[in-house]
Amino acid sequence: MSHWRPTPFDPITIEGINIRNRFVRSATWDSAATDAGDVTDASVKIIENVARGGVGLIVTGYAYVSDHGKAAIRQLGISHDRHIEGMRRLVKVAHDYGAKIAVQIVHAGINLVLLGQTDRIGLAPSKTEAHRSLHRAMTSAEIDEVIRDFGAAAERAAEAGFDAVQLHGAHGYLMSQFLSPLTNRRTDKWGGSPERRRQFHVEVMRSVRRAVGEDYPVWIKMGLQDDADNGLQLSEGLAALAILSAEGLSAVEISVGLGGRAARIHTPEDDERPYFREDSAEAKRAVDIPVMLVGGIRSLAMAEDILRRGDADMISMCRPLIREPGLIARWQRGDTTPAKCISCNKCFGFGVRGEALECGEERRLREEADAD
Ligand SMILES: Cc1cc2nc3c(=O)[nH]c(=O)nc-3n(C[C@H](O)[C@H](O)[C@H](O)COP(=O)(O)O)c2cc1C
Repeated sequence: MSHWRPTPFDPITIEGINIRNRFVRSATWDSAATDAGDVTDASVKIIENVARGGVGLIVTGYAYVSDHGKAAIRQLGISHDRHIEGMRRLVKVAHDYGAKIAVQIVHAGINLVLLGQTDRIGLAPSKTEAHRSLHRAMTSAEIDEVIRDFGAAAERAAEAGFDAVQLHGAHGYLMSQFLSPLTNRRTDKWGGSPERRRQFHVEVMRSVRRAVGEDYPVWIKMGLQDDADNGLQLSEGLAALAILSAEGLSAVEISVGLGGRAARIHTPEDDERPYFREDSAEAKRAVDIPVMLVGGIRSLAMAEDILRRGDADMISMCRPLIREPGLIARWQRGDTTPAKCISCNKCFGFGVRGEALECGEERRLREEADAD
């Protein structure tokens, strides 16, 4: 008998959380929080729209664990207890519409570019040429503090009622910076060899586990390799993932570390090629925890193919759900034309201008229609 393979609309249970289908709304900075990182009505509305739209699991936009780890304008915060109350609103609205919800937690490290925060000095594993913005190497005490901040943030996540917490270990933020030989040139216990470069991950994981206990789901979005010459290699990323799994990690979402390939621009005429499918297939072979794949997935047929071949357990999307929050319900109703998203990245522009997230192409079409 052939091996059973799930389809995208089959439910999945991860550590006791029953998720209604295999679709994930990947973490999306929606620039809808207040300047102090608090949830607003606009933040709630964005989550409501995707929850109503049929997705099984939502990951919030990244939330900073420490005030000096804030990456972007109007980003969610989880650095203080006062953030918890607003976070509860996100949990409630997701649950009201039958979706599960995880909060993504991050420390930006050097990566303050999205903010144009040129006056701030980023904290980094090392001072390196790899980054142009102002930064300095963290002291040992600062590293210990950030590790504690990740634990405290995870505790707040559980307190707010999130179904899981997801560490942001991708896209060049602090965790990626520790893992990468390009940005981690330390020679103490945090750098100098692959084992020491991943020690930050291990200690963050332990801190989080101490804070939330053995049973609470702790996930990571992870770049298994860098998109940069002489950066993190896949074999090293897989080794780090295996160690995290042994430390009690419960699921992983596969993306990229340093480099620009996280949200590639491609035209609708390009072949649909999920950016990190091979990495995800490798992760499936390397660890025994659920694997989510994000990046460039635009059709139900592709989602089915990925699951059928066992290259991932869940299908994660970001930009398609900015344009069409109801995409999953549409596919489920039988209208299986691919996502309307054209991967133009105009969605990023709203946040950079300090406005709440929208689809730039939808806005352009609307304006064009209004002008007629
Ligand atoms: C507007 C916008 C905000 C994003 N915010 C986050 C974020 O907060 N955390 C994160 O891990 N990735 C973030 N991403 C990256 C996406 O989660 C995703 O990895 C990437 O867009 C590729 O998936 P896609 O092709 O389905 O859009 C963001 C992407 C966009 C376009």
